[in-house]
Amino acid sequence: MRLTRLDDSDLARLESALDAAGLPYDDVREAGRFFYWSDGPHASFVGLEVFGGDALLRSLVVPLGARGKGLGRRVVETLLVEASESGIERLWLLTTTAEAFFAAIGFEPVARQEAPPAIRTTREFRDLCPASATFMKLDLARNRL
Ligand SMILES: CC(C)(COP(=O)(O)OP(=O)(O)OC[C@H]1O[C@@H](n2cnc3c(N)ncnc32)[C@H](O)[C@@H]1OP(=O)(O)O)[C@@H](O)C(=O)NCCC(=O)NCCS
Repeated sequence: MRLTRLDDSDLARLESALDAAGLPYDDVREAGRFFYWSDGPHASFVGLEVFGGDALLRSLVVPLGARGKGLGRRVVETLLVEASESGIERLWLLTTTAEAFFAAIGFEPVARQEAPPAIRTTREFRDLCPASATFMKLDLARNRL
């Protein structure tokens, strides 16, 4: 699988995919967010907000008709390899819907207090996800990707 970076003209498609999946989308045009889509017939999206060695994984969405076939897992695993190669050491995320999905890939639930300062400044951490969302971490160095 290949992930391609979205440019500004692709963001409307991302916004409607996030809206349809019930995920936050009102900040995707702000600075510091990088979004990608997968090649192949069922374009899936994923995003990163990068702060040195730490990054927030966000906006993962697989089209409704293509779920449950391993695509989401492949998107995340491809992103993990690229993130690791680009110097990211730890990935963080918030989820209200897919804790078990991310746990199967290697993410661990952690207390919000463990969030590095930069991750705490993200809109997703501050406002977009409810306080009940599960906060998760993957240590890329430890997982030797
Ligand atoms: C979550 C999502 C990306 C998963 O993508 P997918 O292509 O359906 O997932 P996969 O087929 O790769 O699933 C991999 C494994 O996770 C499991 N899984 C998938 N979605 C899950 C979920 N929401 N909760 C728990 N487990 C899930 C699958 O059963 C599968 O398990 P298996 O390997 O034992 O068979 C997809 O359901 C989606 O786009 N959901 C809406 C948006 C969303 O919630 N995104 C996450 C926001 S942080």
